[in-house]
Amino acid sequence: MDSSKVSKHLSMNGGDGSHSYVKNSSYQGGILEAAKAIIEEEIATKLEISTNSFFSVADFGCSTGNNSFPAMHTIIEAVKRKHESSADLKTPEFVVSFVDLVSNDFNTLFSSLPPDRSYKAAAVAGDFHGRLLLPSSVHFAYSSWSLHWLTEVPKAAEGLKSVWHGGEEIEEVYDAYLGQFERDMESFLKCRAVEMVEGGIMALLIPSLPAYWDPQKEYTVGSLADLLRSSLLDMAEKGKLSKAKAETFNIPYNVPTPEELRAIFQKSSSFSIERMEIMKSGTLLNVDGHVAFFRAVHQNLLAYEFGAETIDETFDLFKKKLEASPVFADPCNDRSLVVVAILKRNDV
Ligand SMILES: C[S@@+](CC[C@H](N)C(=O)[O-])C[C@H]1O[C@@H](n2cnc3c(N)ncnc32)[C@H](O)[C@@H]1O
Repeated sequence: MDSSKVSKHLSMNGGDGSHSYVKNSSYQGGILEAAKAIIEEEIATKLEISTNSFFSVADFGCSTGNNSFPAMHTIIEAVKRKHESSADLKTPEFVVSFVDLVSNDFNTLFSSLPPDRSYKAAAVAGDFHGRLLLPSSVHFAYSSWSLHWLTEVPKAAEGLKSVWHGGEEIEEVYDAYLGQFERDMESFLKCRAVEMVEGGIMALLIPSLPAYWDPQKEYTVGSLADLLRSSLLDMAEKGKLSKAKAETFNIPYNVPTPEELRAIFQKSSSFSIERMEIMKSGTLLNVDGHVAFFRAVHQNLLAYEFGAETIDETFDLFKKKLEASPVFADPCNDRSLVVVAILKRNDV
């Protein structure tokens, strides 16, 4: 594990590292509140669609709904207010398409739909890198904490040591990941361009990394992934799992820098960037919080790869590593970012 290599590498790939545009947000709820304010403002000022019949919203990567329901409520209430403020418009009917992979627990989502909701709900199961909805049928597209998941570990990185382990292969692996992320984002944007109406708005919340951070004093979600991989290597040293497998295990997600994301959005001829806010994620998680969060995200993947019997010990080691470093003791040292991007479907 060598965080400095990661951050150095990121700075080579990610721009100048200046963050004068970074807004502070003190906790996760702060981001959701900030995103809510941004979405409300953008609907009030930029949404040009006027429909008297129906208004369609889609959440790409809805999971079981906990975070999706408040987001859908925010969007629909803001659209309602916009219609109510116009003498020519009457409030449309709303429909929300909850989109996620076929393996998602849609039963839990549907059994916990808010009883006082003012929309019809539809489930759409499938990979959002492909076409899932009818052409020109979506007025507002939303996706939160989902687009960093890749369709696959990039072929060029298969069998190579992961970015976080350093070594000579690091740049090759980093580039392979970024290339896969670009291809996946391009597929996502291409499909949404077909499905969205002209003038439709898309709000994307995507975890992001700064171009540089000082691993002696700061950490990011990248540093945490780094420690998890280091825990896997320790497990291999103890003979609990295969060393070769642990060294070359690559996780199918990519956390981009804001500059990398901007470049991808700018390449799209179908969408214009209306707004891009870069916020400190500042989750204020303590060590136990980080362990719980990382275990929830990675447990199934690691159990599939290394066996369920390795999980408890791997996360015990992960916790010990976090506790051993003074950097993780203070949540204020977290430099992880979140990008809130508002894109508009161009007229063609
Ligand atoms: C971390 S959860 C985010 C849930 C929720 N949006 C939130 O903000 O808390 C990511 C979700 O994206 C879904 N997801 C990831 N890749 C996907 C894909 N290619 N197509 C559809 N859903 C996907 C996962 O199944 C998961 O439910």
